[in-house]
Amino acid sequence: MDIHSEIKRIADKKNALILAHNYQNDEIQDIAHVTGDSLELAQKAAKNEAEMIVFCGVHFMAESASMLSPDKKVILPDVTAGCPMADMVDEEGLKELKEEYPDALVVTYINSTAAVKALSDIICTSSNAVKIVRKLDADRIIFTPDKNLADYVQRFTDKEIIPWRGFCPTHENFSKEDLIEIKKKHPHALVIVHPECRPDVIDMADEVLSTGHMVKFVQKTDAEKIIVGTEAGMIHKLKRTAPHIEYIPASDYFICPNMKKITPEKLYQSIIKEETVITVQKEISEKAKSALNRMLELS
Ligand code: 13P
Ligand code: SF4
Repeated sequence: MDIHSEIKRIADKKNALILAHNYQNDEIQDIAHVTGDSLELAQKAAKNEAEMIVFCGVHFMAESASMLSPDKKVILPDVTAGCPMADMVDEEGLKELKEEYPDALVVTYINSTAAVKALSDIICTSSNAVKIVRKLDADRIIFTPDKNLADYVQRFTDKEIIPWRGFCPTHENFSKEDLIEIKKKHPHALVIVHPECRPDVIDMADEVLSTGHMVKFVQKTDAEKIIVGTEAGMIHKLKRTAPHIEYIPASDYFICPNMKKITPEKLYQSIIKEETVITVQKEISEKAKSALNRMLELS
């Protein structure tokens, strides 16, 4: 049996839409109906004709899809696929921070739990974080959970950004020294990195881009060789988009173990059994959804 065609056949029969983040395993990207960055996938989850969404990504993505499309069944093929950064914020700590800075608005990166989103004024993704912060009518912003994205946003605004000290272990693990090493091997290559990278890595990059903006960038650049400073799955997406460019992974360790949990076999089983369904408690969902919708309106 060709598992790819079988998954597609069952998905069509069940009117299921398969969404995959750009960091997913190559085969999953090839099977999915839509691949994209967090914003593109949230937009797609909010507006589509399917009866079921199968989310090949991590838990917070399926949770957001479930809130944006409450009448659809949203399935995560591996329920243990979480995001360690999302789990770095605790609700009590955020409530205390809000009390400390009552005049601040809370901007929360989409890589967060629904409960933390519910305590936030607005959500952002890496592709719209700067734009969202600039548009807000407040001089002080509590930014959760990513300290590196907060630092990156601070470069573009005079507003005071109060960062939560969370981080993505996959991006944090990549150091300036690693970048210097890979640049020595490929001195003429252009360097693109994700804003979840450390500030000293960002200082050395030619371009700082969300995964969706990386795709747009390779469609128009004249560069022949690019060092890619983000999760390894991105290389497959970039090769599919602009195959004439040579892509160099910034490090062999640029892997998100959670994104890699979803395999064609798990996707197949999850579509057949319609498991695991992701839902969000109503009270949390209503508040978190308004923060998500505020982002979609401003995007
Ligand atoms: P984007 O796809 O929005 O750039 O986000 C990257 C990420 O880390 C998702 O977990
Ligand atoms: Fe979370 Fe980092 Fe994995 Fe994205 S790459 S899902 S931020 S751990």
